Amino acid sequence: MLHTKSLTLAVAGALALSGTLAHAMGGNSKADDAAVNERIKPVAHVEVAGAAPQAGAAGNRSGEEIVKTFCNACHGTGPGTASPPNVPKIGDKAGWAPRIGVGLDNLVKSAKAGKNAMPPKGASDATDEELARAIAFMANQSGANFKAPAAGEKIQGSERSGEEIAKTVCLKCHQTGEKGAPKVSDKAAWAQRGSKGLDALTASVIHGHGKMPARGGMADLTDAEVKNAIAYLFKQVGSDIK
Ligand code: HEC
Ligand code: HEC
Repeated sequence: MLHTKSLTLAVAGALALSGTLAHAMGGNSKADDAAVNERIKPVAHVEVAGAAPQAGAAGNRSGEEIVKTFCNACHGTGPGTASPPNVPKIGDKAGWAPRIGVGLDNLVKSAKAGKNAMPPKGASDATDEELARAIAFMANQSGANFKAPAAGEKIQGSERSGEEIAKTVCLKCHQTGEKGAPKVSDKAAWAQRGSKGLDALTASVIHGHGKMPARGGMADLTDAEVKNAIAYLFKQVGSDIK
């Protein structure tokens, strides 16, 4: 039962893909796309409806399952996978790094909407949570450390809060002034740093600054998380940063 289902989904995915790819390459008309969609619709519909509504059912599939069924066709590296322009392949750290930097929530939004040769939802029927799991599954093999939402869990919370990060790493130096770090009790020092603006400070922390290691020494922090942590430090200082 399970076997039949995933096989059929894979076929439907491949069909959907051939239509989308051809379209992306400009070799197919909208009418042809519609015809392809029309042809595959009944197949996908009947099979999904016939599947057991338990674990692995639509809405509750694992990241790995979604990736195998839909995303591998472009993001995979094996034989028979497509390579549309810009596609970040699984394991390509350089290709994924700038995308990982925007955070999982933003990647879900982007994947949902589609981007250039990437079709909306990667031509899948994945829910937001399934997309998040699929993205985490791919990105985590490519340098990220995303926490994928568990079954039934919403996407929120995948980004660590500034407070959590600061307590884990930043305050080690910024509480005590270790290595000459500006202390959170030193309002004047932070006011002076703050005059650079949040974006400049974020870049400074990402790259490392003086005796401060890159990303404060916490290599898996996303850029957004670095920003959150800086904002949290400024809150402790009692000043604001924009
Ligand atoms: C038809 C090929 C194709 C399929 C199928 C596909 N992708 Fe993509 N994907 C791309 C391409 C091409 C890009 C690069 C888009 C760009 O930056 O121009 C991309 C980019 C992305 C990005 C980065 C978006 C960003 O804002 O930088 C994510 C996340 C992503 N894909 C997730 C997925 C997921 C999840 C699936 C499966 C559900 C999937 N993709 C299926 C082609 C595909
Ligand atoms: C190993 C100690 C250490 C850790 C951990 C650390 N910092 Fe720093 N930080 C420093 C030092 C030292 C400086 C001053 C560097 C200088 O100006 O030469 C600094 C400076 C800064 C600045 C000002 C940068 C500038 O351009 O003026 C910011 C913002 C900052 N840290 C934020 C953070 C955040 C956020 C974290 C946690 C993710 C963090 N730091 C973790 C030691 C540390």
